[in-house]
Amino acid sequence: MDEKKLIFLAKEAKKHAYVPYSHFQVGAALLTVSGKVYTGCNIENASYGATNCAERTAFFKAISEGERDFKAIAIVSSSEEETFPCGICRQVMMEFMPNGIVILETKNGQIKQYTVQELLPFAFTSKDL
Ligand code: THU
Repeated sequence: MDEKKLIFLAKEAKKHAYVPYSHFQVGAALLTVSGKVYTGCNIENASYGATNCAERTAFFKAISEGERDFKAIAIVSSSEEETFPCGICRQVMMEFMPNGIVILETKNGQIKQYTVQELLPFAFTSKDL
């Protein structure tokens, strides 16, 4: 599974975004170590705090199906700029994919990769409990 395919699948998932409040669509495609892909979109709520980000939708779908080993996640949005994951999603990535890669697409179609550890340095993890 290459990065372009994962970005394509994130774009497909973005179409399902439920965003009546922000109108900001996000899609994610999460790749497992075994090569399976779980997609997700953001799902908003009239009680704004109940909103779920696209990345966490993808993770929670996968985890609830028994998956535990993840390699990479691609994220796209309706913004022209690359969209970095929010802090809560970075924390979820650190829990389930601490050695994983985040794949983003820039405005001019360039694909960029970041490690989860780059995006969440000095993270709080189970080692701190
Ligand atoms: N959003 C995501 O889905 N992922 C992120 O990492 C950033 C924010 C969503 C949440 C909300 O539906 C909308 O984008 C605006 O914040």
